[in-house]
Amino acid sequence: MSRELDTAIKAAREAGGIALRKLGELDLAEIHPKEYKDFVTEVDKACEQCIATAIAETFPEDSMLCEEGSVANGRSGRKWIVDPLDGTLNFIHSFPVFSISIALCNAHDDLVAGVVYQPVLDELFTAEQGKGAHLNGEKIHVSAQHDPEHLFIATGIPFKEYHYLESYVSMLKDVIHDSAGIRRAGSAAIDLAYTACGRFDAFWEYKLFPWDYSAGVLLVREAGGIVTGFSGNSDINSHHSIIAGNPATHALILEKAKKHFQEHL
Ligand code: IPD
Ligand code: CA
Ligand code: CA
Repeated sequence: MSRELDTAIKAAREAGGIALRKLGELDLAEIHPKEYKDFVTEVDKACEQCIATAIAETFPEDSMLCEEGSVANGRSGRKWIVDPLDGTLNFIHSFPVFSISIALCNAHDDLVAGVVYQPVLDELFTAEQGKGAHLNGEKIHVSAQHDPEHLFIATGIPFKEYHYLESYVSMLKDVIHDSAGIRRAGSAAIDLAYTACGRFDAFWEYKLFPWDYSAGVLLVREAGGIVTGFSGNSDINSHHSIIAGNPATHALILEKAKKHFQEHL
């Protein structure tokens, strides 16, 4: 295992421990509004501090982009992308679905390492470019399901921007007809990790940030899946919309996104 992945794993486990110890114990004074319908807790900050310190100590030449504002501008050209707590709203409500997400991009902006850790289940999803994806050390693969009658699909429901709500709802109706069931877990990193290991056959969400999806995108791709934006472009950073899935289900969801989100592409 590379030193980079090892560092990310240790940091994710340490941050996960911080979050787990505070689950169900959060005081109202530890929850702060960040933007409209967007919150940050003292736990998000403590997790980020822990991860950012570990990365800065081990790789002082690297840059960092962390959701809660920790930055580093190193000279190596490499960049760590960190979501210290993905699923903050779940965490605030003691809904035990949240994760820690850490990714590394090389100087060409390629994702080379990714970790998503779900502390409640002690599940560690890891991937390195060209080396496959793993769950607690065991190799994982996207599902082979392609029959709409059996598809189990994850999504993120819009919650603070409404200009694409109608498009989202019409796409949702369409996917309801062509799937066995849809889930909204509340952590995009978990949605992607679960797609990588075949629990979900696909995941779609419009408007995410690099810290939400970077590690998960590498997991899905290394597990044999496809990830694009809603226009089918594999450079997701250009629009921050995501469709991930096994090849057949990705194609099905992409077809629906192109149909319903035409005016937003
Ligand atoms: C959120 C989660 C959620 C997604 C939101 C994200 P946060 O991240 O990933 O599933 O629907 O768009 O902002 O704020 O809990 O880190
Ligand atoms: Ca997030
Ligand atoms: Ca977060």
